[in-house]
Amino acid sequence: MSEAASRNRSRTLEQLQTERYGRSLQWHGITDSTNDDAKRAATSGAPDGHVVVADAQRMGRGSHGRAWSSPEGEDLYVSIVARPAIAFSALPPLTLAVGLGVAHAVDALREAAHASPSRVKWPNDVQLEGRKVAGILIEASASGAQLDSLVIGIGLNVNRCEFPEDLAALATSLRLSHPQRQALDRAHALSVLLAQVELWVDRFTREGAAPVADALSSRLALLGERARCGDARGIVRGVTHEGALLLQTEHGMRELIAGRLVPEP
Ligand code: BTN
Repeated sequence: MSEAASRNRSRTLEQLQTERYGRSLQWHGITDSTNDDAKRAATSGAPDGHVVVADAQRMGRGSHGRAWSSPEGEDLYVSIVARPAIAFSALPPLTLAVGLGVAHAVDALREAAHASPSRVKWPNDVQLEGRKVAGILIEASASGAQLDSLVIGIGLNVNRCEFPEDLAALATSLRLSHPQRQALDRAHALSVLLAQVELWVDRFTREGAAPVADALSSRLALLGERARCGDARGIVRGVTHEGALLLQTEHGMRELIAGRLVPEP
């Protein structure tokens, strides 16, 4: 571990307010993908809440087979080993619970009274003023219907001020959204992120998807706006208690369980 990574690890541990998340913590200088590291750790018996962080990733993965741009030292690339007591079939809304945790953390880190709250873009993005500030990639391993472990991967744009050309108009960071472009301490940001994600994953595990869907109703990106998801086009009307997206199409209300939501003019 580099000196900087070791310092960040110690400073995160000093500030942690979680019960389990991050109590076992690995902080790499560079790695291929923290999700792969966390998967290997899970297979070797890492505890619920074990966290892998890296300053940079060579092969960061996003959803739908895309790459996750992961330059060094600016943002957070985080993977959490989770072992929630739920069936494999109950898993889909978990991404929304994690999204709510990330959204609350983003708001807590911004603090500014003027700031409009972050939004969760179904199913796995968190946005600030219509631009993506974080993405979530959950990968599960199961034996039959029984869930063995999960890896919750989160990429949070903390201090980045420049993005690759294809993302420039779509992405933002906590720093870019600050009126004075103030940089944030990533160790502090990680401790806040882990606390909020633990809280919402535990709530989902205890109470199911209904409280998650209810909390989402005031935070859902594109609510009341036109969007498409695969071949379905319509107006976003909300999220069901099972975590499906409600899209009002010209053929009636559709409940979508997966896909990529794209705004339409
Ligand atoms: C998305 O496409 O929105 C999901 C992005 C998830 C990126 C994170 S960064 C940490 C973890 N490691 C990976 O390789 N991917 C996830």
